[in-house]
Amino acid sequence: MKLLDGKKCAESLVGDIARKVAGYVASGLRKPHMTIILVGEHAPSESYVKSKIKSCENAGFDSALLRFPETITEAELLAKIEEINGDQSTDGLIVQLPLPKHINQQNIINAISPDKDIDGFHPTNFGRMTLGQKAFRPATAYGICKLLQFYEIPTRGKHCVVIGRSNIVGKPISIMLSNDFDIGNATVTLTHIETPRELLLDETRRADIVIVAVGIPGFVTEDMVREGVVLIDVGINRLEDGRIVGDVDFANVKNKCSWITPVPGGVGRMTVAALMINTLMAYQNNFHLS
Ligand code: GUN
Repeated sequence: MKLLDGKKCAESLVGDIARKVAGYVASGLRKPHMTIILVGEHAPSESYVKSKIKSCENAGFDSALLRFPETITEAELLAKIEEINGDQSTDGLIVQLPLPKHINQQNIINAISPDKDIDGFHPTNFGRMTLGQKAFRPATAYGICKLLQFYEIPTRGKHCVVIGRSNIVGKPISIMLSNDFDIGNATVTLTHIETPRELLLDETRRADIVIVAVGIPGFVTEDMVREGVVLIDVGINRLEDGRIVGDVDFANVKNKCSWITPVPGGVGRMTVAALMINTLMAYQNNFHLS
């Protein structure tokens, strides 16, 4: 069993970005700039936002964190997004999810300029990605691809099973891995909450690569996978004792895997690294750099 070290891979990618940014800044350009909107108080979001800001520092980006109270209205938030959309001094905009219940998440995502949508959640980017066109790719899914690439794990011709069909992870990774992309050309089965248990087991037991994003600690057990599987655990679950665990029963499954991501230190770090790649792309687009 070998670990897919998201921390090491993310540091390498962010190091590459930092070198490029240093070159741009030396030539007189401003730094890339990421704006993050955070609404209300939500402990996991606080921690994700902190790691995004830290990564901006490491990459040589400027960042701005705009905090709004839980009581902000949808109209007020939309007005703020409109303002940032028109602000040439920022390249990428993230609205940290989840949002309070009284705000329609889809309306907010749809309001972000596709040119600043570094999360890759806007229908324009999602559609372009699906069609195989240049786009900001959803960051967690893109991060998983970058991790597989870093460790030279082939996907072409492989059988990949995705568990979970969220718009943020399961749906985009299933599309990206089946597309004719560098990290793609796999045969993908997308399973979800309505997949009968027997069918799920049939699929996971013959998969070369299993990607799980369901938010249930210990969901993937030893009996569900075959010897030599590559296992990507997207879950970040906080237990009552404060420990952070993934969606895989890591202690019992790990010895069956050829490769497995740890939690923490796996996919979570890669989501942030992919956001950095997307922000650099937004910046390069703005300044017509290649
Ligand atoms: N909340 C959990 N994951 C994400 C993500 O990738 N992007 C945003 N904006 N919010 C999230």
